[in-house]
Amino acid sequence: MRLLEVEATDFLSYRHLLVDLTGVHQLAVVGKNGHGKSAILDAILWCLFAKGRGPTDEMIREGCQSTYVRTLWERTVDGQPTQVSITRSRTSSDESSLAVVIDGEVKTKSKIPLTQAYIEVLMGMGPKAMMAGPIMVQGDSAALLDALPAARKDLLVELFQLDRWEGYHEEAKRQRKGISVRQDLRSNELVQLESELGDYDELSVLRELQTLHAQLADQGRALEAATEEAMELRSKAAILQERAKRAQALSAEIEALLEQMGELAADNTRLVQGIDRATSVSKFQIPDIPPEPSDAAVIPIRVEMTALDASLSELRSAVSTFGIIRQQIPALASRASASSPCVGDPPGCQYVIAAAAAAKDLAELRDRCDALEAKADELPALEASRLILEKSLAAEERRVKEGRSEHYRVATEAASLTAQRDSALAYLAEAEPQLKTVQKRMKAVELDHRKRTKERLQLTQDEWSMADLASKITESTAAAKLMQEHKDVTQRAISATEHHQARMSKLKQQGDTLAAEIAAGDGEGATLDILIKAFHRDGIPTLILETALPEIEARANDVLSRLPDDYSIRLDTKAATKTGTFKDELNVTVLTGGRERPYRMLSGGQRFRVDFAMRIALAAVIASRVEATVDTLWLDEPLGPLDREGQEAVADTLAAVSDEFGLIVVVSHVADFNDRFESKLAVTMEDGESYAVLA
Ligand SMILES: Nc1ncnc2c1ncn2[C@@H]1O[C@H](COP(=O)(O)OP(=O)(O)O)[C@@H](O)[C@H]1O
Ligand SMILES: [Mg+2]
Repeated sequence: MRLLEVEATDFLSYRHLLVDLTGVHQLAVVGKNGHGKSAILDAILWCLFAKGRGPTDEMIREGCQSTYVRTLWERTVDGQPTQVSITRSRTSSDESSLAVVIDGEVKTKSKIPLTQAYIEVLMGMGPKAMMAGPIMVQGDSAALLDALPAARKDLLVELFQLDRWEGYHEEAKRQRKGISVRQDLRSNELVQLESELGDYDELSVLRELQTLHAQLADQGRALEAATEEAMELRSKAAILQERAKRAQALSAEIEALLEQMGELAADNTRLVQGIDRATSVSKFQIPDIPPEPSDAAVIPIRVEMTALDASLSELRSAVSTFGIIRQQIPALASRASASSPCVGDPPGCQYVIAAAAAAKDLAELRDRCDALEAKADELPALEASRLILEKSLAAEERRVKEGRSEHYRVATEAASLTAQRDSALAYLAEAEPQLKTVQKRMKAVELDHRKRTKERLQLTQDEWSMADLASKITESTAAAKLMQEHKDVTQRAISATEHHQARMSKLKQQGDTLAAEIAAGDGEGATLDILIKAFHRDGIPTLILETALPEIEARANDVLSRLPDDYSIRLDTKAATKTGTFKDELNVTVLTGGRERPYRMLSGGQRFRVDFAMRIALAAVIASRVEATVDTLWLDEPLGPLDREGQEAVADTLAAVSDEFGLIVVVSHVADFNDRFESKLAVTMEDGESYAVLA
């Protein structure tokens, strides 16, 4: 992990801090005491681990409500660089946030502690290890050597990321256990398979199958022949059946034709008789009808009679009137005489007038009586002539009546005869063509009948072989069925044998696979056994430390050799216990002039140099050995209590190891020392606000 950029807002003495370290390799942070140099490292450590010189709340710039710090790192895994951005913020009301973004992708976890753990994984170490190794906080040069020997060892384990081997060890053990379980299962399975396979002999099964197949082929051929024969017989039978059916149909048809012939013969007889009858009726003679006599001769006689009757009745009434009048005459005569005028009556009096009138009426009456008397004499003659007339009228009327009745009788007879003749003619007109049709039809039906009868005769000639054929069919069908059954039995035997063979082959194959798997499992198990040993604390981790420690020791001694005084150190990881076993520790022994001197017995300056040498050696070895670890070396006031000579030596040492780190940052207020570095970050303070400017 190489630091690329640090940015902060309202953090300690900074209102705003932005340091871009891209392309910077060696940097000296310069500035006066208390101006904010160490505050930059505080910002970085607070951002990564929420650690700082004081409690988190104290990190917020005085008078401000919140702070936030962002650091940007380059992390290389498998040779691929990625950019890791970490941002932490905090408000005075205790609200915190922590975010991780890798190459633009948010990796922040659901809870801050989880994100925190993730950051430690990315860094490859926690705050303690980091501050004992590549990051030296001001005044904390002896972070490693001040710790107890066992804790030192733990710091080493963390710095070299040795604890991950423990995880590998557990995983290998888990896998080994899985393999053992699987191997046991497989072995059991194999034993079972083998017992099932028993003395299975593939060759004899194959021979058996060959025989069965040959048998099946023979049976197949026989079946085919039998089936073919049965089929042929059946088709023959089908033809015969067809014929029988046809003959039956023909019989029905012949029956129908016979019936038709009978009907037609009856029709024929009926028509011939009808025509005979009609022919004789059609020859009937129609009598002539005498004319109807007319009333012409009777009418004048009747007129004459009527006139005569009128005259007679007039005459008769006149005669009766004459009788009445004649009876009145005596009365009238007496009246006329009675009314004769008296002497002395004046003329014109009433008696005179009445007498005159009565005389006149009497005269008139006498005239009329005379006239009537003359007429009454004609009456007998008239009555005689009427009698004659009456007789002649009766004779005439009788003659007319008789003539008329004769006329009607003959007319009726003629009409009846005519009707009979007409209907006979109509019948003939209809019946004659009918007769022709019937006769024609009779001929046709007869012909048809003959034809069908002949055909039926031909068809029925074959029928003799039907029963024979049926029994033959039954025979050949039974033969085919039997053959099919034989074939089925053989087929089943083949299937069973093949099934057995397939199952056995499958079992064999499974057995082979299992054996191969067991062999592979054994191999895997052996590999894992090796890995378990390798990943154990006494394995690779110890090996790493055992190879790393001499390297650290050599490097530290190399640094020490550059520094004043003739010191060297010796590192041991195992300390013997009272019980004769060993315990994991990191013991540092200081040697001066070939003699051992305890670290605690050294002077402050001497201790400082040993600390410095150990830290540089450790950080350099880690940076060169562990991928994706912190290869940024940040030393805050590394000169400590050193004199000028010591300071020079530190500068030389840093120059010598500088290639082993991505970035080296030193914080110092010693101008000569600072001048030895390629880049400078000038930190100043104005009105309590720090500014950092890259020069
Ligand atoms: N909460 C705060 N707000 C503002 N300034 C602070 C706060 N806490 C500490 N300071 C000041 O910030 C400065 C930090 O200086 P520091 O980085 O330690 O100095 P140096 O440059 O010597 O390393 C000091 O002047 C300190 O008094
Ligand atoms: Mg400082």
